[in-house]
Amino acid sequence: MATKRPYLKRLNTSFRNPLLELAWTAADNAVSGFAAPTNRELENLRRKSDPLADDCIRALHLKPGTDSLKALDDYVSQPVEEQASAAPRKFMEQVTTTPLWVDPELMKQGQKLFWKYVVLIYIILTDYGLPMGFTAGRATDILSCTNYFSSVKGAFQRLFETGKFVTDIMNGPEALTPLTASGWKSAIRVRLLHTQVRLRILAEAEKRPDLYSVEELGVPINQEDMLGTLCDFSIGVVSLLKKMQVNLSPSEITAYLHFWRFIGYLLGIDDEYCRKLITEAGAGAVAGAILNHLVDPSASSVVTAHNLLEALAFTPPLFWPTGAHLAVTRSLLGDRVSDSIQLPPSKWYWRLFTTCSIAVTRWILCSTIFLEQRINLAMKYGPPGMDYYVRRIWAKDALHKPATCDFVFKFLPHLASQESDDT
Ligand code: HEM
Repeated sequence: MATKRPYLKRLNTSFRNPLLELAWTAADNAVSGFAAPTNRELENLRRKSDPLADDCIRALHLKPGTDSLKALDDYVSQPVEEQASAAPRKFMEQVTTTPLWVDPELMKQGQKLFWKYVVLIYIILTDYGLPMGFTAGRATDILSCTNYFSSVKGAFQRLFETGKFVTDIMNGPEALTPLTASGWKSAIRVRLLHTQVRLRILAEAEKRPDLYSVEELGVPINQEDMLGTLCDFSIGVVSLLKKMQVNLSPSEITAYLHFWRFIGYLLGIDDEYCRKLITEAGAGAVAGAILNHLVDPSASSVVTAHNLLEALAFTPPLFWPTGAHLAVTRSLLGDRVSDSIQLPPSKWYWRLFTTCSIAVTRWILCSTIFLEQRINLAMKYGPPGMDYYVRRIWAKDALHKPATCDFVFKFLPHLASQESDDT
């Protein structure tokens, strides 16, 4: 089936035949396993972690603050007979092997779509994706453990680190070249960071099962939570862009979803599930099922969502006040979900302001005037711009010393207290 797809696609674009269109959709649905996962299947995913990365981190014995990727590289560079465990080598093999299904042309188009609508995607991810993710109480408790969204300052740092990750992976066709490219390095560092958090929480949970029950909450940063977050970044963005009346072509959507399937692969999400996200219908079905299964706000959902909205105030690129972000969040989440995380009602003038701002932004971004040039400019200056802001914020925190955002495990997660344990 997979080998016939490019051929089918060529026919599809050259004839624009509605019957062929249907056949194409049906073939895609069959490949992606259109049926939405059941709650039982999703509950099973909560028991699954990322065993390859777990074994690798166990073998590396990393101290907090260590550059995980460098440690991994050093380990696998030793003669094989001196490597006490084969796990780091196996992990390295997986992350440096580009699967056969990866299509460089689609990857490039997926990145282009991101830069074309970068401002709208930023609004979607910050004002919808993150707050929506926080409504999953069982997942959000993990974020609180690491102290990140439990304070406004922490939420602010996290936002910029996530922004840095996204601009790194979107940084041009070479961004994901194994071993050397910044996007690839960031993705692997984030995966190893997740693994360190997971193992640390599991170790704490073993000592204090009253504070974290794996039975009830699932493995920390499990396959379902990761898949749900991947849906926010991929199909969530596509459907919200459409809701904002942006006309996306089917090929743009395919490319964007394809790009995120590969990011899922690098982040350790089983491709058995990621491949369900390659069509709009398949991804929509998975995202809907996960939402239905997970939305159940906890006390940490309320705290994290409020901290996020406060942290967003007057930050680049929009420099909007909290009221404006709140208005967008409320309109995108809807009143029921917004009320469940105790968001205050939004003021009419912020609703008017944000509706007009989004309409004007959409109008500018959708216009074809200097389109290629605009995309090229965004691709050229976006990543260094993000680097600059990350350094400025870090510099402020680190007493004006230059600093980098390297996704190093430094906040030891605590189940009982929210205190940070900076090492
Ligand atoms: C596709 C899925 C995901 C992506 C792309 C992603 C991305 C990131 C990025 C870029 C970072 C590093 C920057 C930062 O600290 O904010 C990070 C850290 C973190 N992520 Fe994720 N994440 C995903 C899924 C998840 C899930 C499902 C959870 C938990 C339920 C989670 C929990 C965390 C935690 C606790 C940290 C902070 C670790 C620390 O610095 O102490 N992530 N993630």
